[in-house]
Amino acid sequence: MTDDQIVLYHRPELAEDARRYEAWCQLVSISAAPAVSQPALYLDHRGMWLCAPGYTQPYQPADAEIQRRANSRVPTDLVRACGVQLEGRCVLDACAGFGSDGLLLAQRGAKVSLVERQRLIWIMLAERARHIANAETICAEAMQVLDDHDRHAGSWDVVLLDPMFPPTNKRALPNRGLQHLRELTAPFEPEQEDLLPLLAQSRQRCTGRVVLKRRLKDSVLARPDFQIKAKSVRFDVYAGLA
Ligand SMILES: C[S@@+](CC[C@H](N)C(=O)[O-])C[C@H]1O[C@@H](n2cnc3c(N)ncnc32)[C@H](O)[C@@H]1O
Repeated sequence: MTDDQIVLYHRPELAEDARRYEAWCQLVSISAAPAVSQPALYLDHRGMWLCAPGYTQPYQPADAEIQRRANSRVPTDLVRACGVQLEGRCVLDACAGFGSDGLLLAQRGAKVSLVERQRLIWIMLAERARHIANAETICAEAMQVLDDHDRHAGSWDVVLLDPMFPPTNKRALPNRGLQHLRELTAPFEPEQEDLLPLLAQSRQRCTGRVVLKRRLKDSVLARPDFQIKAKSVRFDVYAGLA
């Protein structure tokens, strides 16, 4: 499937809502989520769902988990890495995926721009973020947004980088959301993308912290200023240079 061939199925009575996305996909009216041979989207009264080949049920990332993490009195490792006091801070989530991390930062009061380069994933993200006032979503390459001084004239307070982790030989399956992200990005993800230019440009456009999420045992990309380690992931934190 290429980005040009995305099909968005929608409940007949939601034709008007589906039209928000008609510039990016083909719209098809249907009364239930279909079985598909290619990844597709389905819009019903409970929001946007991902239909994927080989799965009997469509998938939607859970907002309740973001709320739980946002309301937790003990800040999560991600929030600590980004600097805890996030109210009014400008954050760029440059590899947004379904937005669980970026939207958590928005729930903590940050003004978050969530960038996702893959259109199907971005549509899921855009629908999820639609009702969150201080979150905007952008379908683009992260580097393009970092280079675009017209879009964002000043610097970012925080840039979050969470690219796909390199594959391992481990058999254990990640959670369903990550499984989907892995399957959806596999045909597009440049093999072992060189992240150093992205990290360097992020630091140039950031006054506060650039936070790079890695697997706990991954090698460091460049020496971070400090690290926050969680059970299976690690946040490498770099000082912004803007
Ligand atoms: C591991 S996922 C991010 C998960 C996300 N933190 C969440 O909470 O859902 C990585 C995502 O970043 C996107 N991505 C990777 N490199 C990118 C780039 N250079 N520009 C824009 N998006 C990128 C991929 O398409 C993928 O959807």
